[in-house]
Amino acid sequence: MKAVCWMGKKKMEVQRVDDPKILNPRDCIVRITSTAICGSDIHLYDGYIPTMEKGDIMGHEFMGEVVEVGPEVKKLKVGDRVVVPFTISCGACIHCLRQQFSCCDNTNPNARVAELLMGYSPAGIFGYSHMTGGYAGGQAQYARVPFADIGPIKIENDLPDDKVLFLSDIFPTGYMAAENCDIVPGRSVVAVWGCGPVGQFAIRSAFLLGAAKVIAIDSVPERRAMAEAAGAVTIDSGGDVMDELQAHTGGRGPDAAIDAVGMEAHGSIYDVVKQNLKMETDRPYALRQAMRCVRKAGVVSVPGVYGGFLDKMPFGAAMNKGISLKMGQTHMQKYLQPLLKLIEDKKIDPSFVITHRVPLTKAPQAYAMFTKKTDGCIKVVLDPTR
Ligand SMILES: NC(=O)c1ccc[n+]([C@@H]2O[C@H](COP(=O)([O-])OP(=O)(O)OC[C@H]3O[C@@H](n4cnc5c(N)ncnc54)[C@H](O)[C@@H]3O)[C@@H](O)[C@H]2O)c1
Ligand SMILES: [Zn+2]
Ligand SMILES: [Zn+2]
Repeated sequence: MKAVCWMGKKKMEVQRVDDPKILNPRDCIVRITSTAICGSDIHLYDGYIPTMEKGDIMGHEFMGEVVEVGPEVKKLKVGDRVVVPFTISCGACIHCLRQQFSCCDNTNPNARVAELLMGYSPAGIFGYSHMTGGYAGGQAQYARVPFADIGPIKIENDLPDDKVLFLSDIFPTGYMAAENCDIVPGRSVVAVWGCGPVGQFAIRSAFLLGAAKVIAIDSVPERRAMAEAAGAVTIDSGGDVMDELQAHTGGRGPDAAIDAVGMEAHGSIYDVVKQNLKMETDRPYALRQAMRCVRKAGVVSVPGVYGGFLDKMPFGAAMNKGISLKMGQTHMQKYLQPLLKLIEDKKIDPSFVITHRVPLTKAPQAYAMFTKKTDGCIKVVLDPTR
């Protein structure tokens, strides 16, 4: 089959590789019909996530048709149409039972590596380095899906791929980020740093949860325009963000701040230099700003991915202002069914975010375009048949 392989920093190649095989009785194999590039993939592309190896198959946002099931798979059968969530979860450990699926204890075969860095290992993730399991990803024609009865959600209606594909990651991720904001319907003001795909879904989810006002911050005009189309007020991140947020909130600051930017924030020379000198793993410029700008006793919700050790965090502000910090890889399986219902009920059409459809064979160019944000690119869907 064809697959997008990581071959080094800023080096993706479409290669012919072996088709995946059932390895465990609870696996299934999915023939992929649609797959996408995520902001998280940029962190691998730019070489900031350790434990990638040449030839690793990329991708964790995919859907398709089940073509083979292991002997212990009970809920899925050949021919089912499924969306596969990016976190792999066992469904039976203490975290899965508490719906903390991205903290699953049993799906990272390389847990020891993650434990050295983090104390305890998070769940395995498709196509996201050996530290989170070394699983082959879904920017390919086929993928092996472990714990097939726990992850994939069956799509039993005729909604096209474009409307359900993002259940695999960015819609639940934006939704959990908004849910973590403890929104009081009709009252809460939520500020969202980053108008990439995750920020876009966080903005729309905040409105779905009843936010009175959403203020979105980014430097890219077309991304701000997409946020405005959802009803958000926008701020250019190149300006005085604190000042403008105060102007929009009667001087009090937003009730909640979402960092949908993560480890590669723009705007701070200090962090660029330190990251390049390997004196800092991440560029937490947006996170610092969110912690400073949020109102007293507010919430800072962090869907943005961070990898390691962050410098100059305003922890004094967080402590003295009584901020709550909430974060995490998304507990995907908790959100699949309720968010599918929102799509079926036409409360949201996730395909709004797609700006580019590209053959899988053109993935290397698509990575460069998405990373550099050229050609108005906001979200790329790859077609594995081309
Ligand atoms: N928690 C999860 O489970 C999860 C899932 C998916 C993605 N993510 C993470 O979410 C983050 C966003 O993903 P995405 O797909 O939207 O990526 P993206 O790179 O397309 O979006 C990031 C946006 O942030 C903007 N930005 C950069 N610096 C900024 C600043 N200082 N202030 C305001 N905006 C700034 C960029 O212009 C861009 O529009 C990434 O870190 C990604 O890894 C997390
Ligand atoms: Zn993702
Ligand atoms: Zn588990």
